[in-house]
Amino acid sequence: MARVFHATAGSGRSASRRAARTEPAPAAAPSTTSGSGGRGGIVAGYLAPHPPHLVYAENPPQNEPRSTGGWEVLRWGYEELRRRLRAHAPDVLVVHAPHWITMVGHHVNCVPNPRGVSVEPIFPHLFRYHYDFRTDVDLAEAIVEEGARAGLVTSAMREDGVRVDYATIGALHLANPDWDLPVVSLSANNNPYFYSDASLAEMETLGEATRKAIEKTGRRAVLLASNSLSHLHWDAEPDLPEDMGVERPFTHAQYAGDMELLRTIREGPTSRLKEAVPAHIEATSSETKAGSLTWLMAAMGWPAIAGDVLAYGTVIATGNAVVEWVPT
Ligand SMILES: [Fe+2]
Repeated sequence: MARVFHATAGSGRSASRRAARTEPAPAAAPSTTSGSGGRGGIVAGYLAPHPPHLVYAENPPQNEPRSTGGWEVLRWGYEELRRRLRAHAPDVLVVHAPHWITMVGHHVNCVPNPRGVSVEPIFPHLFRYHYDFRTDVDLAEAIVEEGARAGLVTSAMREDGVRVDYATIGALHLANPDWDLPVVSLSANNNPYFYSDASLAEMETLGEATRKAIEKTGRRAVLLASNSLSHLHWDAEPDLPEDMGVERPFTHAQYAGDMELLRTIREGPTSRLKEAVPAHIEATSSETKAGSLTWLMAAMGWPAIAGDVLAYGTVIATGNAVVEWVPT
């Protein structure tokens, strides 16, 4: 067993399995009106977790390390997500992710063409991903404005070359590996990690501001909440990172906590999550503490619908679910 926190970037084994990398074609620049010709608004929302292992397991040309697979059930769920996302014909993907951490306020990436290499700092031997995508700058700026109007501290991030975090890239790749849709990326304000009793109310405000900006710009948007569920995990990994013989929940209590939340999601309505999400965080150290799921629900207006769980599985013991909500 190798200590996860002392992993060496680009091991000899992964290097030997590394294939020649080809650059993906960046998406076309976004139009200023709905390109689909359909109605604007939020057409679907997904819980879209970002474990770097899922990208590693797929061996996309953008990622340097090579794998022999693994975590198939979760990846099959993402394959179904991709089919459904395509059917919704969105103009833009809007993602909230917990690892673009901002200490003051909520930032929105307004760089027109982010490109670079995104590296998972704990698993650099699994995730070194070359990205090159387009931002829907008009929508990004509208979210900054609407957030400020709602009383939030917001900021437009315009520094070209700032590395995009792996949670944003991971969710976006897994949802749309062709990268042929413009993107808006939101940061995660880190207050919940300093104040244990911090409420998720601010994420509701950010969600409502996101919805107003989408409606104001006439976009047909799909939203991605890039959160895992139960979040206790191993601090060591097997020699073969994708060894599924050792993949399992951290404890039965962690698994049961996830199942309780997913039962609530599958039964609906989403308003039940206002109480269920904080309880789940308390029980499982859930990554939803970063607020992505609450942001998603608030953006959709807490619709009186059930979520469709496409897959559940663990990754280094953390719980992960791929879930779709389609507002009516
Ligand atoms: Fe994470």
